[in-house]
Amino acid sequence: MKNTVLTLQKQKEQGDKIVMVTAYDYTTAKIMEEAGVNTILVGDSLGNTILGYEDTLSVTMEDMIHHSAAVARGVKDTFVVTDMPFMSYQTSVYDAVVNAGRLMKEGRANAVKLEGGVEFAPHIEAIVKASIPVVAHIGLTPQSVNAFGGFKVQGKDVEAARKLMEDARAVEKAGACMVVMECVPAKLAEKISRELTIPTIGIGAGAGCDGQVLVYQDLLAMYGDFKPKFVKQFANVGDVMRKGIKAYIQETKEGTFPAQEHCFGIEDSVLEKLY
Ligand code: KIV
Repeated sequence: MKNTVLTLQKQKEQGDKIVMVTAYDYTTAKIMEEAGVNTILVGDSLGNTILGYEDTLSVTMEDMIHHSAAVARGVKDTFVVTDMPFMSYQTSVYDAVVNAGRLMKEGRANAVKLEGGVEFAPHIEAIVKASIPVVAHIGLTPQSVNAFGGFKVQGKDVEAARKLMEDARAVEKAGACMVVMECVPAKLAEKISRELTIPTIGIGAGAGCDGQVLVYQDLLAMYGDFKPKFVKQFANVGDVMRKGIKAYIQETKEGTFPAQEHCFGIEDSVLEKLY
């Protein structure tokens, strides 16, 4: 079944949890679709997991377009959401629309995601007016790591919780089709999820959200630089890869790889004629 803004909305209404996962390339996107996720996020977390940066701030529009287009080529039915990188929308509403358009035209995304609440409602509204679905991202917004002074749980006191509620209401009113909530206390995220009519997707926001998202290298134990509290490792693909590569090294050194079945043949008579 093709996943669209309409089917994702219906999932919320029917209490059917939405499953989102990150992917940044063709092969992984195909595997995610075969496994049956509803939506793939081409996150700017690729700055950390693919490009090896400390944070997401150096990720460019060109990086996002390149990876988004690769993911889009790998899927047929999965809804592809692509992140707007740092400074591609914060600068003006005009820049937000132009860059969202590029992610759709060149990156072949089905929706764009941007970080921010009340302050970015005008940007969301303008992008939506251009017929581009927008996923908002509130709570811990990693592009603001320097302003936050680190990666911290958001919305813990009354003032911060109120701000988060206001952010959620503002992005829904501006026309966002979904909202990601990152590092938000579970009970607050559940309250917001009940109040909003659009689906909420949690990451470190508890089970009361309408769906969940995780970075795939985190959930498959492939990325060891740090492990946030909210990550569950569902499989140890990192270990499987290390074992596979070690076996390849060993057999190459021993000369047992490549074996006969991996080699191309030639008639001896051809070889004999060489001298
Ligand atoms: O970039 C990303 O992967 C994200 C998720 C952590 C929600 O924004």
